[in-house]
Amino acid sequence: MQGFKKNKRPVALVTGFSSGIGLAYTKYLAKNNWELELIAQNPEKAKKAFESLSYPHSRYHLCDLSKPEDLDNVVKVIKEPNLIVANAGITKYGAAGSINKQEKRDLFYLLCNGVIDLIEEFIPSMINQGEGRIIIVSSIGAITPMPKSSIYASAKSAIYSYGQSLAKELSNKNISVTVSLPGYVRTDAHARAGLDHLKSKVPNWMWVNAEQVVKETERASIKKKSEIIPGIVYKLVRPFLKLSLANLIWNGMTKRKSKK
Ligand SMILES: NC(=O)c1ccc[n+]([C@@H]2O[C@H](COP(=O)([O-])OP(=O)(O)OC[C@H]3O[C@@H](n4cnc5c(N)ncnc54)[C@H](OP(=O)(O)O)[C@@H]3O)[C@@H](O)[C@H]2O)c1
Repeated sequence: MQGFKKNKRPVALVTGFSSGIGLAYTKYLAKNNWELELIAQNPEKAKKAFESLSYPHSRYHLCDLSKPEDLDNVVKVIKEPNLIVANAGITKYGAAGSINKQEKRDLFYLLCNGVIDLIEEFIPSMINQGEGRIIIVSSIGAITPMPKSSIYASAKSAIYSYGQSLAKELSNKNISVTVSLPGYVRTDAHARAGLDHLKSKVPNWMWVNAEQVVKETERASIKKKSEIIPGIVYKLVRPFLKLSLANLIWNGMTKRKSKK
């Protein structure tokens, strides 16, 4: 709620609210009395997550955010948000050349072009109101190579770059843009991508929980920081991620199992 005009419950839009980081963010915002506009795709999962909130100032919309026409429809019925948490996403792995064109387009739209479309839909109203906050959940994969997840990493990298430019562009309009770059977070994402083996392969100390991601990301956004890497381990390794030895070790610890 911090930073917004008093006497009115500010509106937050959270994409991918039905599990993981999005659900943790939604719970945090509900605790802090925001009015919530929520988006997810799977009807049963969304209903269950929504009911678990039992929070009156909220409603949810079903939308496949990997499809431009679905996104165009959903933004028409959403209240103009004061805060956008662009979080929805999936992890996708597969060797170069093994993912079909439609899957690549859908993935890139979900993680990058669609996030831009969503945010740009509401920038004019934030400018009119003279305030706003935008949070983009990217990934540490935006700044380090991810063999067998090149489409995912490149989309996360593109949206990171977009967020950094937007942060500068909107800074004199009292609108903050914060890109969060989480490393390994304990959510459903890896099982959903068929990467269950990472739970045992990636050492315990490399995992961050969703609540920690929310706490650090929210703090960075309120402080108008343009990026945040949640978790002390990732903050420490960041300067070394581009070095080849560090990369070799990193890729060994996080190796995707071979898939054509
Ligand atoms: N977990 C990690 O290690 C990690 C690390 C770095 C970055 N991230 C990023 O964090 C974000 C959240 O992921 P998570 O780890 O919290 O995973 P998660 O638990 O699987 O949650 C993903 C959320 O996104 C929604 N979603 C996925 N595809 C969608 C689509 N096409 N249309 C609408 N909603 C969609 C899901 O809803 P449905 O189930 O209805 O599809 C779900 O609510 C993602 O952008 C991910 O890339 C995660």
